[in-house]
Amino acid sequence: MVNRDKLKIFDTTLRDGEQSPGASMTRDEKVRIAKSLERMRVDIIEVGFPTASVGDFEAVQAVAKVVKDSTICGLARALKGDIERASEALKPAASARIHTFIATSPIHMQRKLHMTEDQVVEQAVSAVRLARQYTDDVEFSPEDAGRSEFEFLCRVIEKAIEAGAGTINIPDTVGYNIPHQFGDLVGRLIENIPASDKVTFSVHCHNDLGLASANSLSAVLRGARQVECTINGLGERAGNASLEEIVMTVHTRQDVFPCITGLDTTQIVPTSRMVSTITGFPVQPNKAIVGANAFAHEAGIHQDGVLKARETYEIMRAEDVGWASNKIVLGKHSGRNAFRTRLDELGITFDTEEELNNAFANFKGLADRKHEIYDEDLHALVSDTSFDHDEYWKLVSLTAHSETGETPSAQVILQVDGEEKVASASGGGPVDATFCAIEEIVDSQAQLQLYSVNNITTGTDAQGEVTVRLHKSGRIVNGHGADTDIIMASAKAYLHALNRLAIPDRRAHPQHDV
Ligand code: KIV
Ligand code: ZN
Repeated sequence: MVNRDKLKIFDTTLRDGEQSPGASMTRDEKVRIAKSLERMRVDIIEVGFPTASVGDFEAVQAVAKVVKDSTICGLARALKGDIERASEALKPAASARIHTFIATSPIHMQRKLHMTEDQVVEQAVSAVRLARQYTDDVEFSPEDAGRSEFEFLCRVIEKAIEAGAGTINIPDTVGYNIPHQFGDLVGRLIENIPASDKVTFSVHCHNDLGLASANSLSAVLRGARQVECTINGLGERAGNASLEEIVMTVHTRQDVFPCITGLDTTQIVPTSRMVSTITGFPVQPNKAIVGANAFAHEAGIHQDGVLKARETYEIMRAEDVGWASNKIVLGKHSGRNAFRTRLDELGITFDTEEELNNAFANFKGLADRKHEIYDEDLHALVSDTSFDHDEYWKLVSLTAHSETGETPSAQVILQVDGEEKVASASGGGPVDATFCAIEEIVDSQAQLQLYSVNNITTGTDAQGEVTVRLHKSGRIVNGHGADTDIIMASAKAYLHALNRLAIPDRRAHPQHDV
């Protein structure tokens, strides 16, 4: 048997993925996703940027407390304060990594950092040394390596290794590289840096030209042994390399790749769905591996081929990536114990019995309207229940009317500060009328940037999952709502977004706020 290298999978859905506008996740949502990543046996989970806000700090800390089989990583700029804050958040972790970075491309050094090459090297070295005082596991990234000068890149990496970095991550921050070029860059770094055999080379590619996965895999062929990626390719702008594409390419093409991941690939689809439900970023139907059509064979000729021998048109088995796990799990007659047990299996826990009771009441309501309840329904339901906590605007009731030949209209009653407010409005359709009625009360003056509806499972009794994206004064928030009635789901999503806007939020961005 061939002795294969291990390819480490570093998931950054909770950090870089969360940097997509509107994709911010709560602490509890991050814990749920992190547990799913742990079940998948992801090697390293980057949970956040602890300096960004108290919420980010607490999320890293909470995940570090409960996830014990994966290494937990916190991001820190090459600054004393960031590194100390990351180390503090990571204290409860069984295995902790600090990931520190500084930009090394001429444009970033001159225009963003206003620093010379020598100053950048000095700051990188001090950051790695300081991080090593808190953990033996330190990763260093020369940000925008894909546009950095080769000689300088070698110099800063050599110094970072000397200072104690065990992982050197090469980011194509702006998604500018193309596969042979990026593979070549990583290969040449490994060949030219004397101590390269003492560290793991990693890659972190953005998808601005749609090449993030191809670039990452090209680097793996040239010696990278860690890939940074996200579920569904979520991430800044066009996103990051997608975990499912990297992992399944390496698994499927063992004739090409000299390495293997240790992942349980059957967890891919359930985790993809969870991330989509929590962030409200739908997965396009033709997305590789996790898209609804990825294993669907429509054309008769293909179906015939697949029925005779599945290998004619299938290079992977749907069940190997977790499509078969889409089973009915609960129904109308399921009791509180069955409900709680399934939530436990999904890694969902509640802080108080009252929260569990609320979720169970919502589950009973849903089971009356929809007989077969899937894991995806449970995730949506739990997200909806957890929004209830800190709602400023609460939906008391909604009546929407639509009739052939009549103008659609809606009436909503909202509760704010214990007082009920009523408003009615008409609109182009019942959803428009509902939003106008809500706006009549709230007067947010926010701009609606996106409205999308997706069915969570199949069938006309499925829950519709609505995402609403609002923009106000430079801030973007997403709201989500799920219900078997899509007008109701839309109202919930709109209010969720408005409630998010009502909470002041100033999170530092690791790369833009310097
Ligand atoms: O894209 C990037 O360069 C990053 C760094 C922080 C690694 O996300
Ligand atoms: Zn990035």
